[in-house]
Amino acid sequence: AGAPLLDPFGRAITYLRVSVTDRCDFRCVYCMSEDMAFLPKRDLLTLEELDRICSVFVDQGVRKLRITGGEPLVRRDIMTLFRSLSRHLSSGALDELTVTTNGSQLARHAAELAACGVKRVNVSLDTLDPDKFRRITRWGELSKVMAGLDAAQGAGLRIKINTVALKGVNEDEIERLLEWAHGRGMDLTLIEVMPLGEIDGQRIDQFLPLSVVRARLGARYPLEDMDHRTGGPARYVRIAETGGTLGFITPMTHNFCESCNRVRLTCTGQLFMCLGQEDAADLRAPVRVSDGDAALRQAINDAIARKPKGHDFIIDRRHSRPALSRHMSVTGG
Ligand code: GTP
Ligand code: 5AD
Ligand code: SF4
Repeated sequence: AGAPLLDPFGRAITYLRVSVTDRCDFRCVYCMSEDMAFLPKRDLLTLEELDRICSVFVDQGVRKLRITGGEPLVRRDIMTLFRSLSRHLSSGALDELTVTTNGSQLARHAAELAACGVKRVNVSLDTLDPDKFRRITRWGELSKVMAGLDAAQGAGLRIKINTVALKGVNEDEIERLLEWAHGRGMDLTLIEVMPLGEIDGQRIDQFLPLSVVRARLGARYPLEDMDHRTGGPARYVRIAETGGTLGFITPMTHNFCESCNRVRLTCTGQLFMCLGQEDAADLRAPVRVSDGDAALRQAINDAIARKPKGHDFIIDRRHSRPALSRHMSVTGG
């Protein structure tokens, strides 16, 4: 096996997030613009190239792979990649192969994901109201996501619901989402909205610090801090009354960069060392130069050597500028 990947701050890179497409069948307002221009298909890495890059990372100590998008399950033949990557689970080289999805295609894919060794999936869902769901996603059908959740649970997959907390949009629904998710045996994680892509006054006004939500929920349910670790950025509490787990992802109000263990590969082979920075390294050229992995390995090691200390997202109410012009859909969150 290759040497483990250590960044300049001594953090070991054990988690690779892989965005397999920038496309999505929804257009969530905080993730994409309405008239999003998608990448030409010829710029995409093939599934074989994605597999090769993932495999070099696994060889260099990555223990967790998360397939993201855009919406990963809209990429043609995506199950070929899951089937191939599952060999790293069988060999013991990988602890977890998983996916973050909007759920719209889960009904079709749940059984096969489970067969590939996927144990749990993260499903993005911000509301239980079909009209509100259509407004947030611009045209998504809530019923398709619900069918996806049923299929995933039927296939034995654990589910974590990801909810972006939006002031004046779904803040009044958080308790309901919590009762619903925990009632169905699913976990729930709340996320602070991050300023990527073009940002208008509305997005800034919609920012809801999770400290506020936590205080509100704490008045209603006793929240017990947990030492639960998934390798992701969330901090978890247990809620005795519902028997479920609630996570908080707080990039804006409580920075977790110190314990960062991850990098992100895009569908065109750009490696982003930080979600909240512009810098990326190109892995497409090295993966294409030859069948050997030496150039690729070198490019990955050079990239990790310049991983920044952290992001510098700010919500700036005076200048309605995005912190980053790149949309979330490019790196998959
Ligand atoms: P678990 O394995 O369940 O812990 O998943 P995860 O939280 O690692 O992944 P998921 O795809 O569910 O991501 C949830 C949210 O966390 C997304 O909105 C991501 O943008 C955000 N997130 C994940 N990693 C980072 C990170 O390194 N920095 C920042 N700022 N946000 C992150
Ligand atoms: N801020 C925070 N979370 C976001 N997501 C997409 N865009 C943003 C944003 N601007 C979330 C999605 C999904 C996860 C991968 O990222 O809702 O749950
Ligand atoms: Fe890691 Fe960057 Fe996320 Fe911070 S913002 S946790 S450094 S990827």
